[in-house]
Amino acid sequence: MSITKSEVRRVVGEAAWVRLKLALGRRPPAGPTGLRSTGPLPAALNGLDLSTWAWHFGTDKWGEHWYTPHYERHFAPLRRKRLTLLEIGVGGYDRSEGGESLRMWEQWFPRARILGLDIEDKTELSRGRVTVYQGNQVDEGVLRRIIDEHGPLRVVIDDGSHNPAHVRQTFETLFPLLPDGALYAIEDTQTSYWPTWGGSLDLADPSATIPWVKDLVDGLHYEEQLDPGRISSWTDEMVRAVHCYHNLVIIEKGDNREGSSADRLAAGP
Ligand SMILES: C[S@@+](CC[C@H](N)C(=O)[O-])C[C@H]1O[C@@H](n2cnc3c(N)ncnc32)[C@H](O)[C@@H]1O
Repeated sequence: MSITKSEVRRVVGEAAWVRLKLALGRRPPAGPTGLRSTGPLPAALNGLDLSTWAWHFGTDKWGEHWYTPHYERHFAPLRRKRLTLLEIGVGGYDRSEGGESLRMWEQWFPRARILGLDIEDKTELSRGRVTVYQGNQVDEGVLRRIIDEHGPLRVVIDDGSHNPAHVRQTFETLFPLLPDGALYAIEDTQTSYWPTWGGSLDLADPSATIPWVKDLVDGLHYEEQLDPGRISSWTDEMVRAVHCYHNLVIIEKGDNREGSSADRLAAGP
C-alpha cells in the first residue's frame, strides 16, 4: 500500500512538509546553455555528468525524459570496457538525421562498439565505432545477424516502437543471447498504460509491459514461493535484477539460483 501525502505531512511536520513540496517538481537545469551541438566533444564535457552529455548531443534521454542519471549509475562501471552496445531506435525524421544518443554513447564509452537498429533507413549515420542497421525490432533475423556480426551484446537499450508486444518479443529474442552480467534497458514504459500504443488500462493485463515486469519481479523470488507445483521458468533463473524507474526499466542478466531458507523459516517466525 502506498503512503498518503497526509500521512507524510503528519510524520515530518509542517515546516519540513513545506520544504518537501517546494523541492517536488523542481527539475535540475537541463544543461549549460550554449553547449548543445552535434560537433566534436568539447573538452569541457569531460568530468561532467551524463545528463550534461545528453544535453550536448541533443538526445531526449535528458530534458524530455530523465533517464541519464539512472543510466550513469548502471553504466559507470562499464564505461572504460571493451563492449558492444545496441540501441534500438535511432531517432530523427530524415535519413541523415537522428543518432543523437548513438553519438553520445560513442563518446561516453570510448572503447565500445556502438550499434543502432531502426525501422527507417538510418545507415548513413554509420561511422567509426558506430554501425547502424535497418530493420524491425521484432525481426529475429536482423537481431541474430547483429549478434553474429558483432558478438555478444553487453548493453541493450530498447528505445524503438514502445509497443508493449514489440518490447516483449524483442526481449524474448535477445535476452537469451546475452552474456552474463548484460544490462537490458526498456525506455518509455509508460505506453504500458496507453491503449493507443498497445498498452492497457488494466494494471494486470498480461499483454502490457509493466504487468510483465511485475511478473519478472515475482520471478526473482521464485525460490521463495511455496506453491509446490510451481515450475521455474528460464527468466526466473536468469534474471538477476529488475531496476524500475519512472518510464524506464533496466533488467540485469545473471544466475538467480540462490537457494532459499523457506524450508527452515517459511513455517513461521
Ligand atoms: C524515440 S526515437 C529514438 C531516439 C534515440 N534513441 C535517442 O535517444 O536519441 C524512436 C525510433 O524508433 C524507431 N522505430 C519505431 N518502430 C520501430 C521498430 N519496430 N523497429 C525498429 N525501430 C523502430 C523510429 O523510427 C524512431 O527513429
